[in-house]
Amino acid sequence: MRRILITGSNRGIGLELVERYLQQPDTFIFATCRQPADATDLTILAAQYPDHVKVVQLDVTNQPSIDQALQSISREVDGLEMLVNNAGVLPGGVAGYEKSSATLGYLQADAIENIFRVNTVAPMMIAQAFSDLLRKGTNARLINVTSDAGSIAMTQTGYHYGYKASKAALNMITRCLAGDFRADGVIVISIHPGWIQTDMGGPNATRTPAETTPSIIKVIDGLTINDTGTFLNWDGSQVPW
Ligand SMILES: NC(=O)c1ccc[n+]([C@@H]2O[C@H](COP(=O)([O-])OP(=O)(O)OC[C@H]3O[C@@H](n4cnc5c(N)ncnc54)[C@H](OP(=O)(O)O)[C@@H]3O)[C@@H](O)[C@H]2O)c1
Repeated sequence: MRRILITGSNRGIGLELVERYLQQPDTFIFATCRQPADATDLTILAAQYPDHVKVVQLDVTNQPSIDQALQSISREVDGLEMLVNNAGVLPGGVAGYEKSSATLGYLQADAIENIFRVNTVAPMMIAQAFSDLLRKGTNARLINVTSDAGSIAMTQTGYHYGYKASKAALNMITRCLAGDFRADGVIVISIHPGWIQTDMGGPNATRTPAETTPSIIKVIDGLTINDTGTFLNWDGSQVPW
């Protein structure tokens, strides 16, 4: 049984990843979200696949919530084959981005700190919390969903300060985790999902979650230890750091 934990799985790319992984045989998904009572689509999906998905409450910025999720999952399994740090924020989304975290002249520390708490600090704390379960998983992998907006090499413009910086820092965390997990055989990567039509990506994005997620899964499933510490695109190509 392939045991997978996905954060932010109630909508957008996370929900699509749950749906697609459920099509694979021998998969069990801990589909986490911060408000299960409001996660209508995920609840319906979980009811359809009661032996293959469990909805778990997890606010990724809240350490007691992380600890509780770990306890609850540890009662069910003794290892994880995959952890996907998918939950993320870009206040206002691409289409209606909020200047308080995006635009020089309007930046506010609180707004930027909130982004960092979700996009950067949380994946690190979740990786730490679930590290023992990952080490006990078979051929395990830890996937940080990042953005090419966090590529320092590709950045030529100034806006989206908070989001871009949070994802650049997440990429550094990927490298650090890859170093720490290498000896255990746990593969750690950053992946850019593409510009996707979700609440975050907005209606003008180039692809839907349904169009892009199969490619993302193909990339993730094809990883070997030689890929650990890399920054990959949804199509498997390398993104410059
Ligand atoms: N869409 C794109 O074009 C694009 C491009 C590059 C990278 N990405 C990355 O892809 C990932 C998924 O994005 P998306 O487009 O699917 O975004 P989305 O539709 O806005 O969904 C964001 C998800 O993150 C969850 N989340 C936010 N804060 C959370 C918290 N404190 N605790 C738990 N969950 C939290 C949300 O839960 P709630 O419903 O509770 O808010 C939601 O499930 C993100 O990391 C994003 O940065 C997206």
